[in-house]
Amino acid sequence: MTPRLAVRCPAKINFSLRVLDRRGDGYHELDTVFQAIDLWDELEIGPGPTLRLVSDSPGVPVDETNLVLRAARRLAERHGLRSPAGTLILRKAIPIQAGLGGGSSDAAGALVLCSHFWGLSAAAGELSAAAAEIGADVPFFLEGGTARGRGRGDLLEALPFVGPLRLLLGCPPFGIPTAEVFRRASGRLTLPGIGVSLAVPWAHKWPQENDFGSLANDLEGVVFEDWPELKRFRDGLRDAGAGAALLSGSGSTVYGIFADDDEIERAQGRLREEFSGWRLLATRAVRGGVRLSAPHPAIR
Ligand code: C5P
Repeated sequence: MTPRLAVRCPAKINFSLRVLDRRGDGYHELDTVFQAIDLWDELEIGPGPTLRLVSDSPGVPVDETNLVLRAARRLAERHGLRSPAGTLILRKAIPIQAGLGGGSSDAAGALVLCSHFWGLSAAAGELSAAAAEIGADVPFFLEGGTARGRGRGDLLEALPFVGPLRLLLGCPPFGIPTAEVFRRASGRLTLPGIGVSLAVPWAHKWPQENDFGSLANDLEGVVFEDWPELKRFRDGLRDAGAGAALLSGSGSTVYGIFADDDEIERAQGRLREEFSGWRLLATRAVRGGVRLSAPHPAIR
């Protein structure tokens, strides 16, 4: 058995998110474009007598409600491992309940990590199937990059990488519960059955040829009504020169797409004072999804 292994788990944003219909299974039919971004959680595994999760990050549950443990147990079950063992260590950098997919990415990371650690010969399709059982946007993080997601968000089609678009994320000091946002959005669906064309921004077309106006997130109506400060931040990003500014997923993060790092710095300078208490994170679009990495050097 390998003594210690680690994975890096990226966050995502949604370039577009259309909510098309309510399904019989309680989920909603989506058409969205996911983009992996350069903001990472780290998950490590080492020997231990039983399967357990520890985290030094405040506010992270380490019990069975954490998707990391659920993913690891589901993988073990699918492979008939009766007593899966290992100590998982989660280091969070991705804000929680922020519409950035952190919990889902960690779960995808747990599948990749544990299948290596336990020496399981899991084919790619097998990991995707396990991922879809854990949550609607877990499968995306296995391949990452730029991808269209339909169905619950788990029917994926890889798209060409958009290029290293510069992004400024605004993360308010609170999270937003996804299920509640979808429940409220359900009452006002306007698009059932209508075909949508999803806009994708391309770095190499910056700025003239990008149709930023057609990037849209159908959850903004519901979320901006209850949290008007998010709309103010969105408008602030636009005023500061963002090509486009949108809510990511069901929030609470609002992001802007910028031409270069200088523009991002200027925007940060303008927004920092009014939105004190928010985390303003400069980042960029990246290729790929969860990936094996070197374990943390700290000795414990
Ligand atoms: O799949 P996951 O547990 O991440 O989704 C959280 C909640 O968001 C679901 O329980 C559901 O209420 C809502 N959701 C939805 N339609 C989707 C994805 C999520 O209604 N396609």
